[in-house]
Amino acid sequence: MQGNTSIAFVGNTVDLWERMVARNVHVDLGSDQTSLHNPWAGGYYPQGYSYDESNRLMAEDPERFRTEVQATLRRHVAAINTLHARGMYFFDYGNAFLLESSRAGADVIAENGLDFAYPSYVQDILGPMCFDYGFGPFRWVCASGSAEDLRTTDRIAADVLRALAAEAPDDIRLQMEDNLRWIEQAEQNRLVVGSQARILYADSVGRIAIARAFNQAIGRGELGPVVLGRDHHDVSGTDSPYRETSNIYDGSRFTADMAVHNAIGDSFRGATWVSLHNGGGVGWGEVINGGFGMLLDGSSEADTKLERMLFYDVNNGIARRAWARNAEALTAIRRELERSSGLRVTLPALADDSLIDRVAAEHF
Ligand SMILES: NC(=O)c1ccc[n+]([C@@H]2O[C@H](COP(=O)([O-])OP(=O)(O)OC[C@H]3O[C@@H](n4cnc5c(N)ncnc54)[C@H](O)[C@@H]3O)[C@@H](O)[C@H]2O)c1
Repeated sequence: MQGNTSIAFVGNTVDLWERMVARNVHVDLGSDQTSLHNPWAGGYYPQGYSYDESNRLMAEDPERFRTEVQATLRRHVAAINTLHARGMYFFDYGNAFLLESSRAGADVIAENGLDFAYPSYVQDILGPMCFDYGFGPFRWVCASGSAEDLRTTDRIAADVLRALAAEAPDDIRLQMEDNLRWIEQAEQNRLVVGSQARILYADSVGRIAIARAFNQAIGRGELGPVVLGRDHHDVSGTDSPYRETSNIYDGSRFTADMAVHNAIGDSFRGATWVSLHNGGGVGWGEVINGGFGMLLDGSSEADTKLERMLFYDVNNGIARRAWARNAEALTAIRRELERSSGLRVTLPALADDSLIDRVAAEHF
């Protein structure tokens, strides 16, 4: 089959995976998007039951429901393992698939006995491409609720990005051009679902330049007030060892310091409000998220605050990712250190792991 054909399968996904194994269907790329952050209350449906039967079982016999979900997860992973052995690339979508599968006793642990056998999408894709460079889902809401205001912000953001993309270093130019295309087509693709709001991937430089241009337009009376924010799924705001920080390989991904430091820092650097919360896509107790909102009202005070706010909100996370020795984050923080004379970030001393192993073996 060629071209842009999408096929929806109505039924249990494990039936489908097992059928693909039995019929020897080649799959290039696989993932799972069930709601496994919530496995016992409808996020994942067990095999062998209709939708209604599952819902009844969930309510009347939750223990049995749990056993059936876990048995299904073991079969789910077995089918994926077979297709992986035949050449499929599989990644965790950030829905706790690998975590819940491991808890169910599925064969999903790597040979070292510590890691999962498959990467998360942040490890292989989003981390090195976006978060380590500081690109993440910057967002804003037009407090006026006016579609015209949103159109104005789209135009301002596109003008700013176009200018930045023209000057961007090679390693982030494609990222900038993609983001520019996104914002240029946002209105025609009708991405507004409620309030007049946008999400646009941008790095610290982009976020500051866009916010400043918004604030100036508000000051000139061309635009109503705008509230800035970002998703928790971002560079600095979230500690989540199975998702946002899953590509932190120095052992510190199981700490939750970054989100807390970030939210507290944002609270006195200029945020109008901050939030510190648990949960999110990987489940309760598995993640800490820090968020903020910041009102732009066109004032010179907002202009001062926005730079301080957005600069540290993003660069905190890049610094942490650089301490973890992520190559892209090291490049990004070195670039930022050159650009910003007031910034102080300790850089990690990179050592040859084999040398450390040898010294450890000799002395300990
Ligand atoms: N990577 C990301 O950026 C990202 C973004 C959003 C959400 N997520 C995570 O992805 C997951 C899905 O999010 P969503 O908003 O689409 O959730 P959702 O609950 O709207 O959709 C999940 C769907 O899976 C279906 N399902 C459950 N078990 C099934 C089974 N065995 N076979 C077939 N279908 C089954 C459910 O009926 C439901 O329709 C969540 O865990 C969420 O946290 C990740």
